[in-house]
Amino acid sequence: MSLSIGIHDLSLATGEFVLPHTALAAHNGADIGKYHVGIGQESMSVTAADEDIVTLAATAAAPLIARHGSDRIRTLILATESSIDQAKAAGVYVHSLIGLPSATRVVELKQACYGATAALQFAVGLVRRDPAQQVLVIASDVSRYDLDSPGEATQGAAAVAMLVGVNPALVRIEDPSGVFTADVMDFWRPNYRDTALVDGQESVGAYLQAVEGTWKDYTEQGGRTLEEFAAFCYHQPFTKMAHKAHRHLLNYCGRDTDPTAVTAALGHTTAYNRVIGNSYTASLYLALAALLDQADDLTGQNIGFLSYGSGSVAEFFAGTVVAGYQDHLRTAAHREAITRRTEVDYAGYRALHEHRLPADGGDHATPAQTTGPYRLAGISGHKRLYTTR
Ligand code: CAA
Repeated sequence: MSLSIGIHDLSLATGEFVLPHTALAAHNGADIGKYHVGIGQESMSVTAADEDIVTLAATAAAPLIARHGSDRIRTLILATESSIDQAKAAGVYVHSLIGLPSATRVVELKQACYGATAALQFAVGLVRRDPAQQVLVIASDVSRYDLDSPGEATQGAAAVAMLVGVNPALVRIEDPSGVFTADVMDFWRPNYRDTALVDGQESVGAYLQAVEGTWKDYTEQGGRTLEEFAAFCYHQPFTKMAHKAHRHLLNYCGRDTDPTAVTAALGHTTAYNRVIGNSYTASLYLALAALLDQADDLTGQNIGFLSYGSGSVAEFFAGTVVAGYQDHLRTAAHREAITRRTEVDYAGYRALHEHRLPADGGDHATPAQTTGPYRLAGISGHKRLYTTR
């Protein structure tokens, strides 16, 4: 009998501040309908000067360690595309902040927004090799485009931590996967830039091509039919993209593309991303969190996952929701992470957007802004300094 391996627990974190799209529209003169309806976004999380992918990742992961301990965790994989160092894995700082044992392997993964799905699949492989072990997978990103660019409205920040092991309490990950790679320049961030570069329309087209490619491969690998899925979680750079993607998939498969059918399939998956914004690697798993937290009983139902990372790599795979999953959800904590954010006005957001750690090698403390459990206290001799509250 094949092992049941998947997501045993899942926890999310997001930034200290929130900018409503009404404030962005008031600044740039856009019709608010473009944001609320056209791209399907209401607000975006904004990180404090003393937050980054490490503090978000540690905040997301700490509740998993508190509930399950760390005895079985021998690997931590942190996926990000807003990396803070070209050599040292951000997960090593997280390992220290959340108190994991030294007998742990830690590594960072990158392929744009797809990285966390690679991490999840690699984790399944590690657990299959030794079912006694668990893998801590963390997706953590801060999405930042140039001020006053079209991408600005699709920024956000969040982390999702997932504990992967045998006999999961939430979602069993199934074989096969459909995979797809195409060398395209739709979105990228050269090492010398803090903000991403994007060809917006090209990126939407590349995403839709990847939907077709992964589904074709998934079908050829003997995957499930469309009708076997109760819901679909998509990578959501903006929530309208999930609607475009699912409509494209239905059309590709020769199915009716009635908007109500599309909305029914996406269900509750857009609720968190709509108010958090793009969190790159974490976005797909925020869609899963929103679905599990809000849908009526999903026991035994199949969920389709479409992971897309610009550049581009994509994967379609299925998960099955496990009986009793509702007893293990963190719905209240997830809602609290979102509602606890402090609203900033446009000027405050702009100042945070422009904030950079000095690169002169001196000693610099960061302003104490976050109220979260971990903070980036400063930088000294080019070394980032983290503290626990
Ligand atoms: N009321 C209702 N709808 C309105 C409206 C109004 N007043 N005004 C405009 N709209 C609609 C438009 O008709 C359009 O709808 P469709 O897409 O259905 O045609 C939508 O709002 C957006 O309008 P525009 O296309 O004119 O918007 P834009 O060109 O200024 O920017 C964007 C849109 C290209 C997505 C831009 O936000 C962007 O570059 N974002 C970053 C890139 C991105 O997210 N790409 C997604 C795929 S890549 C990926 O998934 C990886 C990743 O995470 C980055």
